Amino acid sequence: MLKEIFEQPRSILDTFRGRIATDLSAIHLGGLFDIMPKLIAAKRIIMIGCGTSWHAGLVGEYLFEELARIPVEVEYASEFRYRNPVIYKDDVILAISQSGETADTLAAIELAKEAGATVLGICNVVGSSIPRETHAGVYTHAGPEIGVASTKAFTAQVTVLTMMALVLGKERGKLPEEAYKKIIGELSSVPNKIKEILTQDDLIKKVAALYKDASNCLYLGRGFQFPVALEGALKLKEISYIHAEGYPAAEMKHGPIALIDEKMPVFFIATKDKSYEKIVSNIQEVKARKGIVIAIVTKGDTVIKNIADHVIEVPDANEAIAPLLTVVPLQLLSYHIAVMRECNVDQPRNLAKSVTVE
Ligand code: M6R
Repeated sequence: MLKEIFEQPRSILDTFRGRIATDLSAIHLGGLFDIMPKLIAAKRIIMIGCGTSWHAGLVGEYLFEELARIPVEVEYASEFRYRNPVIYKDDVILAISQSGETADTLAAIELAKEAGATVLGICNVVGSSIPRETHAGVYTHAGPEIGVASTKAFTAQVTVLTMMALVLGKERGKLPEEAYKKIIGELSSVPNKIKEILTQDDLIKKVAALYKDASNCLYLGRGFQFPVALEGALKLKEISYIHAEGYPAAEMKHGPIALIDEKMPVFFIATKDKSYEKIVSNIQEVKARKGIVIAIVTKGDTVIKNIADHVIEVPDANEAIAPLLTVVPLQLLSYHIAVMRECNVDQPRNLAKSVTVE
């Protein structure tokens, strides 16, 4: 898992390869070429997946709605397949999967095809079942992911979703050329920014040592960072067996705030974006109840540094790009906590790398 976390600067470059023009002026997604007219005309996109791939879909929802102004729904494949969902022929279903073999995702694809929708895939394993069952798609090219806890596959999925949202935004006339190029530039700087985050591994390990014996943890984020909160909580629970929950930070008041006491570590993803002021007040609310705050912040942030117990900095980035950065310290935190608890991080109990049965 550690190897795969550290591979991310390289794996994201592999996801870009041949797709982002060297002068950073355009993105070409060859796998979607034939299907592009349908995608541009789509009235809505339904993203389906399980686990971490579902979280990538949630980031995708923010990306597609923000950059391409297409309505998106994100569904657990396991719910979608049994819910008798309303599927229109002009819907585009986007299945997201690392392995390409997840039983629920495959069954949901079958259902969508029977309903006459266009079905696309974002997949890591070349030649697996999902790319064979879908009409078109984009490979993530993150390389083999062996650790059961998905890390580099997630950042590769989000990278593909960002590229798709940019292309669609431009083709649909919703994203001005200048913004399109600016975000491509930002996206291309992600590998170096992740390298910078990885240099803080020792600091992250020290923070992990302080909270390795926690029984419960809360992960909170807003907007683009809400799915990252879910992903951070999933990483912790699956490899360290600590109970962890992710929530949109604003939902805290509607229940989880009752859990907060001096023993409760609360991980905030609080980078500088349009929700910043709001999340600062959420942090103050947790501190007022004696909760422990560990915040992932934008480099140079002094406001949160003065309130939180610990801050881990990530380089400044456009809010649409920031999930690719903020997830990395959360992966490392989970990894170190699990190792300190003597858990087998690569083969956590009760889990399989790919869930090929119901
Ligand atoms: O291969 P898939 O992406 O379809 O797998 C989906 C989930 O089983 C997977 O993401 C799982 O949640 C991981 N263990 C998360 O780290």
